[in-house]
Amino acid sequence: MSFTAPIQLPGLTRDPLWYKRAVFYEVMVRCFVDSNGDGTGDLGGLASRLDYLQWLGVDCLWLPPFYMSPLRDGGYDISDFKRVLPEFGTIDEFRDLVRRAHERNMRIIMDFPLNHTSVDHEWFQQSRSDPEGPYGDFYVWSDTDEKYPNVRIIFVDTEDSNWAFDPVRRQFYFHRFFSHQPDLNFESPAVRDAIVDIVKFWLDMGVDGLRLDAIPYLYESEEGNGEGEPKTHDFIKELRETVDREYPGRILLAEANQWPREVAAFFGSEEEPECHMAFDFPVMPRIFYSLRSQTATELVRILSETTDIPGAGAWGVFLRNHDELTLEMVDEEYRQAMYGWYAYDPRMRSNIGIRRRLAPLLDNSRAELELAHALLFSLPGSPFLYYGDEIGMGDNIWLNDRDSSRTPMQWTPDRNAGFSTADPGKLYLPVVQSLVYHYSLVNVESQLAQSRSLLHWIRNVIHTRKAHPVFGLGDLKVLPTDHDSALAFVRSYAGTGTSTGLGDPPEQVLCVFSFSQNPIAFTITAPELAGAQLTDLFGGARFPTIDEQGRVTITLGTQTFFWLKVVLPQEPATTTTAIPVLPPAPVPVR
Ligand code: BGC
Repeated sequence: MSFTAPIQLPGLTRDPLWYKRAVFYEVMVRCFVDSNGDGTGDLGGLASRLDYLQWLGVDCLWLPPFYMSPLRDGGYDISDFKRVLPEFGTIDEFRDLVRRAHERNMRIIMDFPLNHTSVDHEWFQQSRSDPEGPYGDFYVWSDTDEKYPNVRIIFVDTEDSNWAFDPVRRQFYFHRFFSHQPDLNFESPAVRDAIVDIVKFWLDMGVDGLRLDAIPYLYESEEGNGEGEPKTHDFIKELRETVDREYPGRILLAEANQWPREVAAFFGSEEEPECHMAFDFPVMPRIFYSLRSQTATELVRILSETTDIPGAGAWGVFLRNHDELTLEMVDEEYRQAMYGWYAYDPRMRSNIGIRRRLAPLLDNSRAELELAHALLFSLPGSPFLYYGDEIGMGDNIWLNDRDSSRTPMQWTPDRNAGFSTADPGKLYLPVVQSLVYHYSLVNVESQLAQSRSLLHWIRNVIHTRKAHPVFGLGDLKVLPTDHDSALAFVRSYAGTGTSTGLGDPPEQVLCVFSFSQNPIAFTITAPELAGAQLTDLFGGARFPTIDEQGRVTITLGTQTFFWLKVVLPQEPATTTTAIPVLPPAPVPVR
């Protein structure tokens, strides 16, 4: 399949805060397109679909690890940080991918699992066999397995201790994740230097940022729980200083599966910044909770909590990713409810979470898929899509671990879903062939051909979001309503440069959502918006004006939403809203 040529190749915009307005797309190299018929996706394949991603409205790709690895943890077990796994391609192909993405004003951030390596890494091999040698202290060794008793086990399904005995060195080594992933010893200056050297290696290649995998866990201590220890924050501050000084415009993104205040610490402060972005882990499960409980209460609670972050910081919001839908950030009662709703088959569970894709989680309900995406694209922070979710791809819970939702991208109804020309038995994982999500039904080509498909719907919402900077740059205030199933918030942005006519105008958008499985009417109270005119952001239709007391009654159909442009009485009246003009849809050609 190929796509019409992009309209222009302008190169990268210079905006240093680009990540605040960007739409991100997570794609595992292995899963997207196989360009050489060996059954595994590769960098060349990914490069061949940049037109598709540009058409969709993606501003930045997030590539999970494609380094040299024995692939015992999807590539998060690295055996050489400076080499590309040969089945994925070469360094030159990666450089070419970056160049071709930049030509389209698309950026690339890559995963950097700096907390640990694979046992196959040369550092570990040297460390275990030569304790006095240059790599002797590269890992966390101990004569007992009793140190750091406050540190929890993360992979509870597979590991019963954070220590493993090494028969060569005859000592225990510490591992946060799988026992084949020993933790690096950040107390060693040589480790810290080696990590900074790797950061520079990839940033020199033109990469626009790094996702700092498992960032809370770099240091451990006897007193603490090894999550966000002060020394971990000191290290990130130093790294940030280096990046800002030598690579301005590149970003660090924290993967810290923690409560808002703890995650917020990874942004640092205005004076001593750490990461530019951090994933918002607590908000995600609450979206799923709201959908099934038909109440917005939990979302209202988490969105009303104010977590101060530096002005240049941005949250990363997501519905799904390559890991299980983690339920670590919800209380036990809610967790059990979510297991009951979303993981009724034990095979759907993994660690403390659910290993399913978005569409099967939502039972392929178009209403719920739209509602979930409407939240994703209007909550504060930058949205991260997971490859295949834009077409509502299914999963395969009969595969091991998180491979259930890492199956090949479904491009066409043809052999191997157009992912690869290999013998189907040779694919790295089988394509989805379940009754509802079979690739002959769910694929890019057929959704391109249907103007009302999920793919076209998501693309339209992405472009609408991009036409309104308020979503990326504005504040959020939750508004009270008189209905438990309704969520209402207003996004407000003061604008920039309006005196010169350049830059963004100020803007306010009222976002309302209903989680009810029946139509509802509800009243919103917002005295600060008294007298405001409301118009639908998509079609421009006029809605009832907010009354003098700041009240307005809205009616929403089953599980649906509105994004309404707010024009206050003192602002110049507008009867129309900006509706983005989309370039024509690409025509699939075989
Ligand atoms: C990644 C997982 C991985 C783990 C250990 C996580 O944070 O997202 O996929 O298994 O790190 O590397």
